[in-house]
Amino acid sequence: MSNIEKSGAFALGGRTVKRLGYGAMQLAGPGVFGPPKDRDAALAVLREAVASGVDHIDTSDFYGPHVTNQLIREALHPYPANLVIVTKISARRGADGSWIPAFSPEELTGAVHDNLRNLGLDVLEVVNLRAMFRVDRPAEGSIEAPLTVLADLQRQGLVRHIGLSNVTAAQVAEGRRIAEIVEVQNEYNLAHRDDDALIDQLARDGIPYVPFFPLGGFSPLQSSTLSSVAQRLGATPMQVALAWLLRRAPNILLIPGTASMAHLRENLAAAELTLPGDVLDELNGVASARAA
Ligand SMILES: NC(=O)c1ccc[n+]([C@@H]2O[C@H](COP(=O)([O-])OP(=O)(O)OC[C@H]3O[C@@H](n4cnc5c(N)ncnc54)[C@H](OP(=O)(O)O)[C@@H]3O)[C@@H](O)[C@H]2O)c1
Repeated sequence: MSNIEKSGAFALGGRTVKRLGYGAMQLAGPGVFGPPKDRDAALAVLREAVASGVDHIDTSDFYGPHVTNQLIREALHPYPANLVIVTKISARRGADGSWIPAFSPEELTGAVHDNLRNLGLDVLEVVNLRAMFRVDRPAEGSIEAPLTVLADLQRQGLVRHIGLSNVTAAQVAEGRRIAEIVEVQNEYNLAHRDDDALIDQLARDGIPYVPFFPLGGFSPLQSSTLSSVAQRLGATPMQVALAWLLRRAPNILLIPGTASMAHLRENLAAAELTLPGDVLDELNGVASARAA
């Protein structure tokens, strides 16, 4: 079993979590829609993650929809006291699996109640408001109205902490004027580094940055540099990609997603991988080569 303590720890809301966690999205059916192909295997992955020391799981009630939250509840409820479950709201799923913005006060309030019910909780530890001005990437637009709704749900005691997802730096600044923001969750990995400046700013302010698609998401990362570094270090390319993120900034918390037990174990073992300085330079070149 891997020692994920070696990933280090960082404050998330009122808690401290290990920097290597788990993202539950891949547990739903194809296209994050419908039930998993193998329900018992999905439950086993969740239980193995927690048994291996994972204390931070990322989810949403719109994965499935409802499917991943129900799996988390079935696998892990009653939850260990140290487990932080982070969820997100502001989308719903069409009958065809499409992702539809759901930003009205009624939809946001309904989403918080759906998460509470499906996870079997009285209060959600962290809820990320996912901006949906564009579904596939951050785009400018005020988040004041939906964030004010979420802050009101927080005052009612249904939500302990608030984060933001799929946001621009301007939206992070706007959000921080409205509520205490305890994490920012955007797309970021070795080859997709739009948020470099934002990560550094959040690191200075002690706010966690949680990259989604840390392994490239639906098109897992492929790079000859990654493969050759992995071979030299006796690791896998995905382990190198995760170890690079852990080295990138101290406020980065990882939530790699997988429905495979073998991949889960491989990803958690990345906590034990040390990247020498020359290798870091080489890996940093991957993003520059793509940007050029
Ligand atoms: N805020 C947002 O808008 C947003 C958007 C997307 C995701 N998220 C969150 O971020 C988490 C992580 O994102 P993600 O799961 O989509 O992407 P990811 O972690 O970058 O990669 C997942 C993909 O990589 C594969 N994979 C995982 N480990 C592997 C390994 N060791 N070797 C080879 N392939 C491997 C998975 O397939 P297998 O199942 O076959 O391993 C899956 O296809 C999600 O679970 C979700 O909680 C948030």
